[in-house]
Amino acid sequence: MFTDFKYTADRPAYLQLKEYLKEQILSGLIQAGERLPATRELASTIRLGRNTVIQAYQDLEEEGFIETVPGQGSFVSAVVVEAGTTTRIPWDQLTTPYAASAVQLDIEKSELKWERGMISFKSIAPDGNLFPTEDFKRAFLHRFALEGEKLLNYGYAQGYRPLLEYLANYLKQKGVDPEGKAILVTNGFTEGLNVVLAGICAPGDGIVTENPTHNTALKIFKLRNLKVYGIPMTPDGIDVDALAATLAAKPVKAGFLIPSYHNPTGLVMPPAKRQAVLEVFARHRVPIIEDGFNEELRYSGAHVAPLLALAGKGNNVVYIGSFSKILFPGLRLGWVVADRALIATLESIKRSMNIHTSFLDQALLYEYLQNGSFEKYLRRARKVYRQRHEAAIRLASALIPHRRIWGEGGLHIFVELAPQINARAVLAACYRRGVLFMPGDLFYTDGGGANTLRLGIGRVTEEEMAQGFKIIGEVVSMLEGEKSASI
Ligand SMILES: Cc1ncc(COP(=O)(O)O)c(C=O)c1O
Repeated sequence: MFTDFKYTADRPAYLQLKEYLKEQILSGLIQAGERLPATRELASTIRLGRNTVIQAYQDLEEEGFIETVPGQGSFVSAVVVEAGTTTRIPWDQLTTPYAASAVQLDIEKSELKWERGMISFKSIAPDGNLFPTEDFKRAFLHRFALEGEKLLNYGYAQGYRPLLEYLANYLKQKGVDPEGKAILVTNGFTEGLNVVLAGICAPGDGIVTENPTHNTALKIFKLRNLKVYGIPMTPDGIDVDALAATLAAKPVKAGFLIPSYHNPTGLVMPPAKRQAVLEVFARHRVPIIEDGFNEELRYSGAHVAPLLALAGKGNNVVYIGSFSKILFPGLRLGWVVADRALIATLESIKRSMNIHTSFLDQALLYEYLQNGSFEKYLRRARKVYRQRHEAAIRLASALIPHRRIWGEGGLHIFVELAPQINARAVLAACYRRGVLFMPGDLFYTDGGGANTLRLGIGRVTEEEMAQGFKIIGEVVSMLEGEKSASI
């Protein structure tokens, strides 16, 4: 007996022994009332120290699995886990329409999967190889040494105070007037958007967006049963006349805009257009939800102020920021800046959802931001991404037959093919040759964009771009040839 116990060196031996004995007891291999071997005897059978066995027995006794009778030994307690009435629930019939939509809209589950050796332009995540892990580790150790106990306890729903102050100052540097505004820290942009929508949009409400737009935002709008009005984009951003016409004609509750390094087009809305957009929304008294996720990945040109800054003392812009592109998406840290009273409402929504964003993560990020490491990293990341972006534009322009290549920054470019070419057909053929990207139709509010595709460049080398874009170009040329032959 007990000779089948297997010890591995990666975990404390007493824990492994304890778990092994528990399994023996729960499965009935050792029965209630049975006497366990003396500690010295078991230690010799399993070839571990006697203290290991003593510690395991002590824990088992504390947890009520065994009982020690002085002078007699350790006996198994009457622990039985006997199945009671069992039944099977047909979960597929019980899940809600919301759940069904969530599954249906979850493209991760249906899209083509990357396999080893493929070149993927699907993601617009940053390059992990650039992450300053040593600086981050130092920031962690420092902050944890300062206030470890505090960070492991419950915190405030609005956020970790020093981080809130840091963000307030950070926003001032972007020209934002802090008067009457407050900040809420969220689990990334995605939770921020959900919290904002939970606060201001009910099912059936209208939301106006650029068309195309961020596919996750689109998914969230659909899941919340919002009526999405997509406004076409011109080469410098949203079509302001079309926007004005929609706001005049439709019951719109809010606008959702990505003015800087728009996903998927990569466009930056010029300052004059920002003013025009603000004016149209203000005229119709419709608030704007501004997604500022990529703002720091500016590679050239003058600083363009966010709509939040241009709105001055107005309280009509709800700005959602994120550290997912400029730092680490795995941290899941973002923030909402808005009218103070609205933030107080959103804080209650956030608290009802998950109490607060991890204080440990917030404090660590704060330390990293405030000690200057962030600026250092940003300088380096911008340089690398600028080169990658320039290479992407150059290579895509040369290798992929296109109607237009869009993109002024960020971690992606957007390619518009000839109108008769379907990007999904291109993708199917490219996949067979080991290349993946995002078909552009995923970003459209109205099923349009069949001839577009988004190429994420954050995690690929120039060689991979050259190789992958060449394959995409060959497939597009082939399809263009087929189309013209069939006309
Ligand atoms: C338009 C847009 N906004 C925000 C984000 C960041 O989202 P999160 O902060 O939830 O990672 C992304 C990520 O791809 C994005 O494309």
